[in-house]
Amino acid sequence: SVAVQYSELELAINTMVTEFHRAADDGPTMTTTQFQTFISKQMPLLAKTAQGEDGLDRVLDQMGVQKDQNISFDHFWTLIHHQAAQQFSSTHKEKGVKCNCLLQ
Ligand SMILES: *[C@@H]1O[C@H](CO)[C@@H](O)[C@H](O)[C@H]1NC(C)=O
Repeated sequence: SVAVQYSELELAINTMVTEFHRAADDGPTMTTTQFQTFISKQMPLLAKTAQGEDGLDRVLDQMGVQKDQNISFDHFWTLIHHQAAQQFSSTHKEKGVKCNCLLQ
């Protein structure tokens, strides 16, 4: 049989799915507390901006999480979209490349 060779992009997708479910204890959603632990371990750059209750509330709001709602993979995906746009614009700022993938 032929061993499947995943691309770096496919591996990155697997990592996102795996890490979400690990943080959610294999449930469909994670609590705000699980989310805080998750970003402090896996997304340290974001964790800095999400410090304090106001910072966390702002991030949850960006993700479309309502008050007292748990965080679904869809919410997480919205966050990834936002982070991707931010990381892209900060690494390409010097080169003057514009990103058109920002959330409206
Ligand atoms: C959020 O998730 C926790 C743990 O999985 C669960 O006990 C709780 O009922 C959930 N809350 C809501 C609002 O869905």
